Amino acid sequence: MKKLFIKTYGCQMNAYDSARMAELLAPHGYGVTDRADDADLVILNTCHIREKAGEKVYSEVGRLREIKQARPGMTIAVAGCVAQAEGAEMLRRAPTIDLVVGPQSYHRLPEMLARGHARQVATDFPADSKFDHLPEAADRIGPSAFLTIQEGCDKFCTFCVVPYTRGAEQSRPAADVEREARALVARGARELTLLGQNVNAYRGPEAGGEPVGLGALVRRLARISGLLRIRYTTSHPRDVDDALIAAHAEEPALMPFLHLPVQSGADRVLAAMNRGHSADDYRRIVARLRAARPDLALSSDFIVGFPGETDAEFAATLALIAEIGFAQAFSFKYSRRPGTPAAASPDQIPEDVKDARLAAVQALLRRQQDDFAAAQVGRTLPVLIERPGRHEGQVVGRSPYLQGVHLRAPVAAIGSVIPVTIESAGPNSLAGRRASMVAESGAAAVQAPERMAV
Ligand code: SAH
Ligand code: SF4
Ligand code: F3S
Repeated sequence: MKKLFIKTYGCQMNAYDSARMAELLAPHGYGVTDRADDADLVILNTCHIREKAGEKVYSEVGRLREIKQARPGMTIAVAGCVAQAEGAEMLRRAPTIDLVVGPQSYHRLPEMLARGHARQVATDFPADSKFDHLPEAADRIGPSAFLTIQEGCDKFCTFCVVPYTRGAEQSRPAADVEREARALVARGARELTLLGQNVNAYRGPEAGGEPVGLGALVRRLARISGLLRIRYTTSHPRDVDDALIAAHAEEPALMPFLHLPVQSGADRVLAAMNRGHSADDYRRIVARLRAARPDLALSSDFIVGFPGETDAEFAATLALIAEIGFAQAFSFKYSRRPGTPAAASPDQIPEDVKDARLAAVQALLRRQQDDFAAAQVGRTLPVLIERPGRHEGQVVGRSPYLQGVHLRAPVAAIGSVIPVTIESAGPNSLAGRRASMVAESGAAAVQAPERMAV
């Protein structure tokens, strides 16, 4: 048995791809290890989104060089978005790297490995989908699984590399998605997070019919027996349509937590970013979603220090955050990405201004996150139990709002949704106790109404 070590950076789509690469390589004799130093094959599944993310790869390759000197048979592959963006340049820059394989080409890894030690690059966008070449794995998996339904982006926000690294928007046929969803549920998944760079731009081709949108897809998957929770990420405000809002109103399995990036609260900045919506558009969409699902909690992404951003424009972002109220959010300093339009702007913001804005936005978001967590204390929430905790007799699960929840329960509860009364809120998770004895086994939990206590 050869050993495979995969290190994953970036978004959940990379996490999904890493899992699929492991499944792909298993029949070729590779078993996963959690250490690079005894691996025969190391895959770095990389992210290109910000400068720091890209740089990490080369420092990791530097560390691997020493290991490889001691293990000359070792193969080092770089996958993901840096691989796609830099391609053959990576082989020139780092002699340690053997294989460079883009996010649409990793199904070719077995044939590349079979060619022995030749250094190779696969970064084309093949006409046939990688999904047609990936095997279905048979192993049991955890209660929560990712499922990529859409890839690529046609939006071309002026700061972003994704349209270049992941290519044009493409949706998998709804029938294929449903088949994979059923297979994941059969292997133990109770929650599916549908993934896409623009997941709500999903338009799944349907044999002999109209393309299927995300709202309709959610309804279809919600019928799968044993599937208790559905989530999707990342969505774009422009693609929130009536059918999706209706699904939030009517499908209890669709969790009341939504990551809906807005980036900025200033209309001039949003226009310069090419987001295709105003701050008021965002407010209206949130209001409609909240009307459909009153307990909906929101998450978002923010960029501070976009070229030309004034103090007043930054204040508009803080004001929007204060007004909407987020359960959780990510915020980033604008990072200049070569080849993107905003990188060429002469109005770059000095680093110290970006630092100060990031600190201010993060302080506000932190307060909102803490308040949201504190507001759960005393409530009884349905919690999907995911894994054993660090202490004996303890398990860890997730609330509908993706918060980690610690409680005492037998490991047999893993895979069930159980009602938990929240007793305390820490900075990163909640703690509570079981509210009743219902739904201990996976089978019983299937009937447990997810919405019961919310
Ligand atoms: N498709 C998603 C986001 C994908 S990238 C969307 O449209 O919202 C994830 C997040 O990284 C973005 O939402 C953005 O906030 C951040 N990001 C992307 N490019 C960036 C850059 N050049 N500098 C700083 N943050 C960036
Ligand atoms: Fe990047 Fe914008 Fe596409 Fe999101 S919508 S992936 S931020 S270009
Ligand atoms: Fe990073 Fe590529 Fe995801 S750039 S955020 S790994 S799509």
